[in-house]
Amino acid sequence: MTHPTNIVILTGAGISAESGIQTFRASDGLWHNHRIEEVATPQGFAKNPALVHEFYNARRQQLRDPAVQPNAAHLALVRLEREHSGNVLIVTQNVDDLHERAGSDNLLHMHGELNKIRCNHCGTGYECQEDIGTHTACNHCGKTGGMRPHIVWFREMPLYMDTIETALLNCDLFISIGTSGNVYPAAGFVEVARNNGAHTLELNLDPSSNSGLFHKSINGLASKIVPAFVESLLSHTI
Ligand code: APR
Repeated sequence: MTHPTNIVILTGAGISAESGIQTFRASDGLWHNHRIEEVATPQGFAKNPALVHEFYNARRQQLRDPAVQPNAAHLALVRLEREHSGNVLIVTQNVDDLHERAGSDNLLHMHGELNKIRCNHCGTGYECQEDIGTHTACNHCGKTGGMRPHIVWFREMPLYMDTIETALLNCDLFISIGTSGNVYPAAGFVEVARNNGAHTLELNLDPSSNSGLFHKSINGLASKIVPAFVESLLSHTI
């Protein structure tokens, strides 16, 4: 592989697994204990907002748990961003704050963030680390009953898609870390990058659904294979 200039990195729940945050589709994953329809769709929120608030309040509070810290994979991506001569963009499907807490700056949360909420009445969004509910009044318009997690639910449009598309068309290395390749449009990013001439690499515990679309796939724990890959890239030994 020629030494890359612009790198785009897609991360999924697998990069946060070793920090103690559940993934979605593992046997003990979030979607085995909750029905997506009920807690991760606009229809579910309209039908039972209290249940949806309870689901996201618990996940938001978990981020305050001292045991939940960025792991070596998050930190390796910070090292790459700081030491690589070209551009490094992280596009994360994750809604946790571990990339930020590790020190990543060039970061896009395409599925939203647990630490943000927004008002369905006035559209204002802002940081919030507290529990919210139907009683929560908007800091901007003052109305209650309209606050929702700033999370992209199924059937909603992911965020920053224009920026992400431009980055994919201008990168020469695309790396996917800790994602099962089940959810579009993220699962299609590898093809956009590859069709545009980028080298594509998957770093995952085991081969994902679209593993065959990557030029290379390295399997193992993110906390081990991501730092090792970053070291080999920065030392020009790949
Ligand atoms: N190291 C590396 N990879 C891991 C680790 C680990 N320690 N643990 C799990 N994985 C891998 C699994 O093998 C799996 O392929 O991480 C992937 C997690 O897959 P999912 O649980 O499907 O999570 P993700 O791909 O991020 O889901 C994408 O789906 O439900 C929506 O919005 C939600 O953002 C989420 C999206």
